[in-house]
Amino acid sequence: MAVVATSAAGGGATTALYLLVCVLVFFSGLIKLSVCKTPAAPAVYMFGDSLVDVGNNNYLPLSIAKADFPHNGVDYPTGKPTGRFSNGKNAADFLAKNMGLPTSPPYLSLTGGVKPPITGVSFASGGAGILNGTGDIVLQQAISLAQQVEYFASVHDELVQRLGPSGAQMHLSKSLFAIIIGSNDLFAHFTIGSIVSNQSNPQRYVDLMTSTFRNLLKTLYGLGARKVAVTGVGEIGCCPVQRKMNKTGECNVELNYWSAKYNDGLKIMLEGLKCDSPGLNYAYFDTYGAMANLFEKPDTYGFTEIKKACCGLGNLNADVPCIPISTYCSNRNNHVFWDLYHPTEAVSNMFSDLLYNGSQEYTLPMNVKQLLGI
Ligand SMILES: *[C@@H]1O[C@H](CO)[C@@H](O)[C@H](O)[C@H]1NC(C)=O
Ligand SMILES: *[C@@H]1O[C@H](CO)[C@@H](O)[C@H](O)[C@H]1NC(C)=O
Ligand SMILES: *[C@@H]1O[C@H](CO)[C@@H](O)[C@H](O)[C@H]1NC(C)=O
Ligand SMILES: *[C@@H]1O[C@H](CO)[C@@H](O)[C@H](O)[C@H]1NC(C)=O
Repeated sequence: MAVVATSAAGGGATTALYLLVCVLVFFSGLIKLSVCKTPAAPAVYMFGDSLVDVGNNNYLPLSIAKADFPHNGVDYPTGKPTGRFSNGKNAADFLAKNMGLPTSPPYLSLTGGVKPPITGVSFASGGAGILNGTGDIVLQQAISLAQQVEYFASVHDELVQRLGPSGAQMHLSKSLFAIIIGSNDLFAHFTIGSIVSNQSNPQRYVDLMTSTFRNLLKTLYGLGARKVAVTGVGEIGCCPVQRKMNKTGECNVELNYWSAKYNDGLKIMLEGLKCDSPGLNYAYFDTYGAMANLFEKPDTYGFTEIKKACCGLGNLNADVPCIPISTYCSNRNNHVFWDLYHPTEAVSNMFSDLLYNGSQEYTLPMNVKQLLGI
């Protein structure tokens, strides 16, 4: 434009033309700014369980923890099942969107020489737990958190090849590592008839969860992670599959108690890990508190059904999971639960907003937006 301006500095008509061009350039610049929002981080690496699985389990032939059939995905933009345990999108989609990034694709979808995108990869797997045994015992063939971290190590190696050691280090130090896991370990241990129950005392079990988690976070730190978002587990004793076991539809008090105990240990672990790991920062999300608040005043947020699953059959729609023969509710926006275990898209959206940009009521010591701004 500068070249045009100098050569056009002459007659009135050319000056007018120049002004017009400038005005157009100015406005197209504004449009570009608003359309191409700069992402809050170069990438999001996603780890966890079915709350954030975006299709890894579609590639596990033996897994029974799948959602690649109707009525899952009924509200997804394509209207088709994707492997997300949701009527539509899940927290992984909303978190990425808040950051201005595309949803990170499933690691297991990157076959046939497809390189991992520079904007991140998802290792999350339905049924996965912090402990190796969790997915194997309860749901068969989930990608344990340890295995997810091993998969990340190979993505790390590719990044080093592509960007060089210092380029990869820079990229990873600004990226978000989001980890949403823990519920399945607690379900495996504290529900009636669970195989691993009574093998160790409850406090020892939740301590084993946090110490195992700590080691895996330390491994990620060693591979370059500096910004970590971790969620506590929710009031999982209140999901339909638990409520239906109580005659009056009340929550499983013991499961909630140990969920809260686990969360207490997790918070202490994260603070200790930060002290031991120079340059590491984290955002912890109090899923339990956010859920308790939602159950207390659902109407404030537009929800009318907090107990019954939208999709399923039987008592609280929780005797049968969300499979093609199940029925599903017509209004998914007023239900907290999509199926016997998982929240609706509406709840995932609400909680992802709190995690990204919520007040310190539910984020500790900061939210993800603040974490990425460091
Ligand atoms: C868990 O599995 C990983 C491999 O994914 C292995 O390296 C690790 O030793 C296992 N941990 C335990 C406690 O068995
Ligand atoms: C664990 O064992 C005790 C008795 O040893 C029993 O009372 C309790 O119900 C068991 N808990 C579970 C979760 O099975
Ligand atoms: C149902 O839940 C209530 C409240 O937690 C509890 O007091 C009661 O014992 C439970 N009933 C059964 C049958 O589990
Ligand atoms: C973050 O929160 C602030 C204050 O509540 C609000 O003005 C802003 O629009 C929010 N931004 C996003 C991306 O949600």
